[in-house]
Parts: sequence; structure tokens; C-alpha cells
Amino acid sequence: MVIVAKARLFSQREKSYLWAITAAILQASKDHNTAVIVEDDPLCTWLVPRSVIGIRQLERALRHLLANNVTPSELGMCSDISQLSPLAAFFYTALFRTARVVLKPFYASNPTWMKIAHDKDARLHPPLETLLNIFQQEVRSMIAAISCDPFDTSDIDSEAHVAVASSDALPIQDSSVDLILSSPPYCTRIDYAVATMSELAVLGYELQGSFQKLRRKLIGTSTVPTSLPEPLPSWGRTCNTFLEKLMHHKSKASKSYYYKNHIQYFDAICRSLAELYRILNSNGGCILVVQDSYYKDIHNDLPQIFMAFN
Ligand SMILES: C[S@@+](CC[C@H](N)C(=O)[O-])C[C@H]1O[C@@H](n2cnc3c(N)ncnc32)[C@H](O)[C@@H]1O
Repeated sequence: MVIVAKARLFSQREKSYLWAITAAILQASKDHNTAVIVEDDPLCTWLVPRSVIGIRQLERALRHLLANNVTPSELGMCSDISQLSPLAAFFYTALFRTARVVLKPFYASNPTWMKIAHDKDARLHPPLETLLNIFQQEVRSMIAAISCDPFDTSDIDSEAHVAVASSDALPIQDSSVDLILSSPPYCTRIDYAVATMSELAVLGYELQGSFQKLRRKLIGTSTVPTSLPEPLPSWGRTCNTFLEKLMHHKSKASKSYYYKNHIQYFDAICRSLAELYRILNSNGGCILVVQDSYYKDIHNDLPQIFMAFN
């Protein structure tokens, strides 16, 4: 998401040379005809190795031209994303979109879930030419979108810095922030790692390794850890009453999996709110978008819970 946000920093003024760069990337992808077998590449989950090589050729070409040749795993996992230019982010986003188009058969009707090809024969095999055509189309529609982007900031004389961090460990000084505007996960068990699985695969996250590690770290993850904290009085009455009702709910797995899953969510939110409080200056404002929901018939009044946390 940080790469996509960076791509949107790209301004109207700089748009003119995008086609020349696109042509250079396409040409370099064709010239870079590598035949390395890549069975451990995470994209092999859905594509045959020959097609994965096609995507990697595109990626290598854009990395070579625009991103100081960092490797995909460095990009994804070593915070080098903070150094990525908006231009490189623009083309990475086009590559993400290309992967989404190609992998469409694996997206479930729920847009935040992606299926795995358990059988190797179920993997797709688009040729390089198809991949390059899709990439070109995606660049075209992204360029068209720049001109009608209501958030185009190119005329504003300010600088934006987009970086990755976990909300419970922000690399920001105490009392240094004037305004926080955020939308944390809503306790509805959306698995954001799975929702961006194909993008993470493009960035080199291995599905059984670094992907799972990231997934477990996200707030509201559907996985549960082996050791859990106890609910605290500081979580407030609404939260503690909700957890009490949930634990005693008669439905299956309420007091085991679902209770643990919710404790994990509130604990992570509590730590993140403490971190927001630490960085906000005394006159600062904080706007959080949250939505209530239901666990079975129990109302989870998230806005009220957030306001009562202390
Ligand atoms: C409700 S969505 C908000 C999406 C965002 N408003 C946007 O337009 O992309 C919650 C987001 O929080 C992210 N998230 C989950 N755990 C996080 C954490 N510990 N630190 C930072 N972000 C986290 C998720 O990956 C997801 O993108």
C-alpha cells in the first residue's frame, strides 16, 4: 500500500516522459531473456515458471532502470520502500496491477480473499507477450487517471514523505505530530496480508515464510498467537463487557478461537493508540475512522470502545 501511495505522488507535470520509460522497460524485458527455473518464487503458487520468468523480466527491467537495482526481497522486507522514488513506485504499481489481472481466476468472490493453486496443473501460463500487453494497458489507464486525480498535489508547494512502520512502533519523536488521520482495521477479521497476497508475492514474500510473519503482525489478523494478554480495565467498560459476553456465547469456538482473536485485536489497538498518543502534540488532533459490527448477536461498538480506551 505504501508503494501505491508513493505512485500517487507522481505529478501531472512529470507525466510526459512516462511513455518513453514504459517503452524502455518493455524493450529491456524482451532483451533480458533469462531461462532460470524459479520454482521457489512465490509467484509459482499461481503461475508456471515460464510465466513467472516473464513477470520477473519486467520487474528486473524496471528495477534496473528506476530502483538502483535493489532485489525484490530487499525491497519488500528491508524498508527500502521508503527510498523508492514515486517514478519507480508508479511502475511497480503497474506491475502489481498486471499481476492482479493475470491472477484474476484465483480471486474469490470476496475481494479480500485469494485462492491458492494446490494442484500444479491448475497454474496459469500466460506468455511474455500477454504479460507485456497487460502491463502496457495498465500503464495507459494509470496515466489517464493522473489527469483526473482529485488528489493531484503537484501544484501544492509541499513535500510528502511516505514510509512503512508498524502502528505500535512508529519511528517518530514524542509530541511532534499536529494531526493524525487513520483508518485502522475494524475487527471484522479481514486478512489484509491475504488481500494483498499477489503484491507481496511480486515483492518476494515467500508464502510459508516472510508472508506468514507479516500476516501475524497485522492488527486483526485471523491467526492467533500461543500466549495472550489478559483484558485490562483500561480498555474500558464497553470493551470488557463485549469480551465477557463473547466468552460466554454458546456458539462453537466463541470462548476459544474467537475470544483469543478479539483479545489479540484489542491488545494491538491499545498498543497502537498509546503510540499515537505519544507522538501527538498537546494541541494536536486525531481522527480515526472505525466501524461497529456484530459478533453473532453481540454488538461490537468499536467507535465507543476507541473513545473509552485510556
Ligand atoms: C481499514 S484498512 C485502511 C486502509 C486505508 N485507509 C487505505 O485506504 O488503504 C486498515 C489498514 O491497516 C493496515 N494495518 C494492519 N495492521 C497494521 C499495523 N500494525 N501497523 C500499520 N498498519 C496496519 C492494514 O494492512 C490495512 O491496510
